[in-house]
Amino acid sequence: MTPVLDIKNARKAYSEILALNNVSFSIEASQIVTLLGPNGAGKSTLIRSISTLETLDEGTITIGEFDVCENPSRSREQFGYAGQDSALDKVLTGHEFMRFQAGLVHLKKGDIIARVDELLERFKLTDAAHRAIETYSGGMKRRLDLAASLMHNPKLLILDEPSSGLDYESRRELWKLLLELKREGTAILLATHDFEEAEVLADKAVLMAKGNLCGFAPPQELCDDLGEWIIGVSLSPHPREGDREQLADLFGAAPGKVMPENPQFAEYAMALPANTKPDSGGDWSDYLTQRAATKGLKIHGLAMRRPTLADAYLASTCEVNNEL
Ligand SMILES: Nc1ncnc2c1ncn2[C@@H]1O[C@H](COP(=O)(O)OP(=O)(O)O)[C@@H](O)[C@H]1O
Ligand SMILES: [Mg+2]
Repeated sequence: MTPVLDIKNARKAYSEILALNNVSFSIEASQIVTLLGPNGAGKSTLIRSISTLETLDEGTITIGEFDVCENPSRSREQFGYAGQDSALDKVLTGHEFMRFQAGLVHLKKGDIIARVDELLERFKLTDAAHRAIETYSGGMKRRLDLAASLMHNPKLLILDEPSSGLDYESRRELWKLLLELKREGTAILLATHDFEEAEVLADKAVLMAKGNLCGFAPPQELCDDLGEWIIGVSLSPHPREGDREQLADLFGAAPGKVMPENPQFAEYAMALPANTKPDSGGDWSDYLTQRAATKGLKIHGLAMRRPTLADAYLASTCEVNNEL
């Protein structure tokens, strides 16, 4: 299947800062791909490049059959965009705003009202259509923005933190709408800082750090690649100087990946690959408890859990940050 969005070896530098370093991935119809990365990872640069607002130094981006550099105007017809700071003009009514948007995408005059009414209905805004946007709730504004981005029926929808600042109910409502669009064939690229959102929506997640792509796979695969279990240990209720060194020594020859410090979990945690067992027999918690006893250490907390997308993100983005 031809991808709806295809990014190949995208590179973009701002003087000495490499905002995109050889980034490649693609999105097919009916796929939601979430873009995750700390501030400065290059997410906005990537979204601006796809949206034809920025030109790459190297590499190509194609939307459907159109190269965004060679054919920006046809490319723009292929996608819709909704950002986190909605560009809604608050004094207009929802209906007026939608009619204005329809003019921007050159919808035929005779088709405008029908399309506007259809989208307002779909996004449950019919009752509020003739009220000023400034009277809308946060969730309604976000739905209106989304409705406007779909005016020209784009194949690709680009969303920048669509649910930031929304309450849980409105977020769930938005997720339902996005899943509906996906089922109808829309490809969606969604930048978010919300791991629950990514786990609910993503067919695949892109992990970015410092301009580098450090993961592109279904969330479950990213978790499985990290390990089967994450096992975390702390020595006292409040970490003390030197605890991490002692804990590193406690894990000894365990074969996993040391997790970045995470105050939510334990002072020291390791992601252990699937199907590995300690040479001494038993399981990893026995191994650690026994080693602690021989070293005269008193374990305060020991917990095992399955890796989450947040763990995969932390492990790979911290790795890049430390390496570069
Ligand atoms: N117009 C610009 N001029 C100079 N540096 C920029 C510009 N846009 C982005 N950058 C730099 O590129 C890097 C990536 O930024 P950005 O794409 O905004 O990341 P993100 O959206 O993931 O936070 C950052 O180091 C940022 O400071
Ligand atoms: Mg950004």
